[in-house]
Amino acid sequence: MAEDKKRVAVLISGNGSNLQALIDACENDEYYPAKIALVISNKADAYGLHRAKEHKIPSVIIPHKNYDSREDFDSALNKELKKYEIDIVCLAGFMRVLSSNFVNDWEGRMINIHPSLLPKHKGSHAVLDALAAGDTVTGCTVHHVVPKIDSGEIIIQKEVVIDPEDTEETLLEKIHEQEHIAYPEALKQLSESL
Ligand code: GRF
Repeated sequence: MAEDKKRVAVLISGNGSNLQALIDACENDEYYPAKIALVISNKADAYGLHRAKEHKIPSVIIPHKNYDSREDFDSALNKELKKYEIDIVCLAGFMRVLSSNFVNDWEGRMINIHPSLLPKHKGSHAVLDALAAGDTVTGCTVHHVVPKIDSGEIIIQKEVVIDPEDTEETLLEKIHEQEHIAYPEALKQLSESL
């Protein structure tokens, strides 16, 4: 089975709790159809890099500030993805917009997790936006990445009930719990379909 597993790169910029959920899914189930083969961060101080190290997963830091254009940064990304023979890219709190060329190259093989029930609340303030809108339900979405932000085909969604006393912090915590279930499920589904 091991040699059939899809080789996954997880792109992060920060904490990496979703990276951790993916690592755990791969490590705890010998039949899980994917393995995390590479972690890439655009930030040298991303906590997720420690998680990779702890699990002996190769990691690469590609600081976006070192590149003059988005295209140059994306070429550097592609070079590493090729070097590690990556089949699937998972964006997990990766705070960079990728060029259309890069996204088109990886179409069908690159997914993202977003903290809302898309198409509601696209963008980087999804949790606050759900609270501000007075929604009673929000959640998370794993979707394919397409050039238009937070707009690709949806793979899995999980709902979270918003209580009247929820703050951004408590709501985010509840969404994260669901994200950590949704992302491994979606990656499994995609890995099996390729
Ligand atoms: C998650 O809430 C995800 O939905 C969003 O960024 C956050 C990343 O969290 N895209 P973490 O770094 O995985 O803990």
